[in-house]
Amino acid sequence: MLLIALIIGDKEIKYNNMIIAIDGPSASGKSTTALTLSKELDFLYIDTGAMYRAYTLEVLKLNIPVEDEEKVSSIGSEVDIRLINNSDSLKVMLNGKDVSKEIRMNDVTENVSKISTYRDVRERMVELQRIYANNQNVVCEGRDIGTVVFPNANIKIFMIADIEERARRRQKDLKMLNINKDIDTIIKDINTRDELDSNREISPLKRAEDAILIDDTNMSFDEQLKFIKELTLAKNEGKL
Ligand code: DC
Repeated sequence: MLLIALIIGDKEIKYNNMIIAIDGPSASGKSTTALTLSKELDFLYIDTGAMYRAYTLEVLKLNIPVEDEEKVSSIGSEVDIRLINNSDSLKVMLNGKDVSKEIRMNDVTENVSKISTYRDVRERMVELQRIYANNQNVVCEGRDIGTVVFPNANIKIFMIADIEERARRRQKDLKMLNINKDIDTIIKDINTRDELDSNREISPLKRAEDAILIDDTNMSFDEQLKFIKELTLAKNEGKL
């Protein structure tokens, strides 16, 4: 039988359990890039930051003191976190409830870096991330994806941008949540979080040796996307 394949855009290209790992500091543009890339390639999108945020939200809801590592870690096996890929967004479910907006609020943002330093919390999240990605084409975004979660990822990207640019982006995101913060406060918040994420003992934010560095301060969104898509295609065709 003659099989005629119509190749219409990226979604028709066959990929086989390909993992694209995107790491980088807060507000470096990872999320928008990873989400859009996943939609255009028809890959599963795993936002690992959203998972740490959902865990943090549950800790806060239960009034567990954030500093109490043992108590925070003890709820790990009961917390039900699911990521649902919608056509143009990611829905984050915590114990059956949509918390996509709640996890972006201030109190979660202020406490998530602390909670993500805890070994047992990380082990649980990494376990889930690997289960989600099993036998799938995936775009996975976070801090330790290329170094710890998927050290054999097919493509590793490390995204950075100037602090002022990152703060402007964060300010825009916050405005959409009706939160108004001045740039200097945002710069301070981002620096504090980067500091905690980069200097923690377990799985710190670090560029994997084989990760490609993208500084998107002066790069358009379309340019970044095109660059990563070309890399993915070249890798898939064995040209890289
Ligand atoms: O990407 P984000 O800002 O939503 O991530 C929230 C926090 O979660 C971030 O400050 C550090 C933590 N995190 C982590 O430790 N490891 C990851 N793979 C992803 C996020």
